[in-house]
Amino acid sequence: MTTKLTERLEWKALEAHYAELKDLHLRDLFTDADRALKFTLTAEELRLDYSKNRIHTETMDLLFKLAESADLKKWTESMFMGEKINATENRSVLHVALRSPKDAVIHVDGENVVPGVHAVLDQMASFSEQVRSGAWKGYTGKKIKNIVNIGIGGSDLGPVMACEALKSYALRDLNLVFVSNVDGTHIVEALQGLNADETLFIVASKTFTTQETMTNAYSARDWCLEALKDEAAIAKHFVALSTNEKAVSDFGIDTANRFAFWDWVGGRYSLTSAVGLPLMLAIGPEKYREFLDGYYKMDVHFRTAPWAGNMPVILALLGIWYNNFFEAETQAILPYDQYMNRFAAYFQQGDMESNGKSITRSGEKVEWQTGPVIWGEPGTNGQHAFYQLIHQGTKLIPCDFIGFCKSQNPIGDHHIKLMANFFAQTEALAFGKTKESLEADGEPAELIPHKTFEGNRPTNTIMAEKLTPSVLGQLIALYEHKIFVQGIIWDIYSFDQWGVQLGKILAAEILPELEGDKVLTHDVSTNALIKYFRTNK
Ligand code: F6P
Repeated sequence: MTTKLTERLEWKALEAHYAELKDLHLRDLFTDADRALKFTLTAEELRLDYSKNRIHTETMDLLFKLAESADLKKWTESMFMGEKINATENRSVLHVALRSPKDAVIHVDGENVVPGVHAVLDQMASFSEQVRSGAWKGYTGKKIKNIVNIGIGGSDLGPVMACEALKSYALRDLNLVFVSNVDGTHIVEALQGLNADETLFIVASKTFTTQETMTNAYSARDWCLEALKDEAAIAKHFVALSTNEKAVSDFGIDTANRFAFWDWVGGRYSLTSAVGLPLMLAIGPEKYREFLDGYYKMDVHFRTAPWAGNMPVILALLGIWYNNFFEAETQAILPYDQYMNRFAAYFQQGDMESNGKSITRSGEKVEWQTGPVIWGEPGTNGQHAFYQLIHQGTKLIPCDFIGFCKSQNPIGDHHIKLMANFFAQTEALAFGKTKESLEADGEPAELIPHKTFEGNRPTNTIMAEKLTPSVLGQLIALYEHKIFVQGIIWDIYSFDQWGVQLGKILAAEILPELEGDKVLTHDVSTNALIKYFRTNK
């Protein structure tokens, strides 16, 4: 059995190192003129500058040793080789197989899964071509104008995020709409103004049992039938993305229009499975392949690059440095690109559903912090909302800044203004503004404490030339692998999500109690709340 994380020599060495370094200011670290060079690396089309972190080269060396003590290399190979590293669900973790080239060989239970992956990609491509060209006709013979994706969690957030991020590459004739919430408002508002005979529903659900998705799917079915008045219309207006063939067929969807995926694809890692169909419909199969190739490039980088030049490993270790030694509780992701406006929301699920765990792989309670709270909004909007707290609040919030050299919409001087803010923020966060410089500026004495910026706020800067499908794929895979590395080091299972079960079970019990006057047997608070609802609904 491996030694408990916090009892390892590598951990103790980091604790001692932290004690020495914790009060050191980035201003002092930056007296080294080579610092930016030392702590910048490129991987494929991404460039990471991590010099504005509270680290020395020695810090990274100690963190690499920690990764080694956690057998990171072995676990990485186990994932790529299809071993069942999701032990609590007895499953392989093979989202990396979804973007691998045709000639790759990856076995699960003795079967090479890559041909199946490419068969579904071909099925998706042929379907997308038909819809995009107008060859796919609705029940009344009209071409499809609206695509409504019904799904939740991993079956929603990924396609929403990616369709937003790559909107400038999309066929604008297709109106993409996403419905996730079981709140009827979501579907009612989404369907406003749409004609059923021009609308195609994609029911995206790995299990095809999720309450929210199935409720919305049945309401969509009713809406469609009310307009088209024939069950036969369902086959023309509904397709499914699911592992559950039987449930798809029970719903009435032609199983020829089911796009399959597999239990070794976790919901929050499923964007490159059939769940990516809305994106392929939007940007077309060719650009979609570029998107997958971007992921693949990052997969290869992660698997093969030495740790000192390995971008996901470095981001993961820096996250651990702040989470476990500086006791930072959150991590902000701040893309300076309006198209990336759902990127942080996507990785809220990606990271928090993966690493929001408190039991080790051997079943004991962890004695260290695990996954951080992930949050963020695009810049510059965030600057006018919550950056005050990042600059001058009492909490340490490590931030990832993501930006691009070229704009998709180069009008006027918007982009240089956006990027001026991008660079200004990481500079301000790192170096702040001292009392002395405020005095030199002639600030009134009573305002000086309020206008002082301590600085020493750590940031990573991730840049690429342009937000292309490939670059987006690289960025997503970068964060996926970062999450993996952290989970391995924290000794938790990153690929199950038992924590979402209890609420689902209780909701199923409460549902029938909301109607009628059945005796309630919950705690007194829940009983009283339910009674209030019953009386006033
Ligand atoms: O919220 C729990 C969860 O299981 C997520 O992991 C998943 O992405 C989501 O529900 C949706 O599940 P499904 O695709 O099976 O409908």
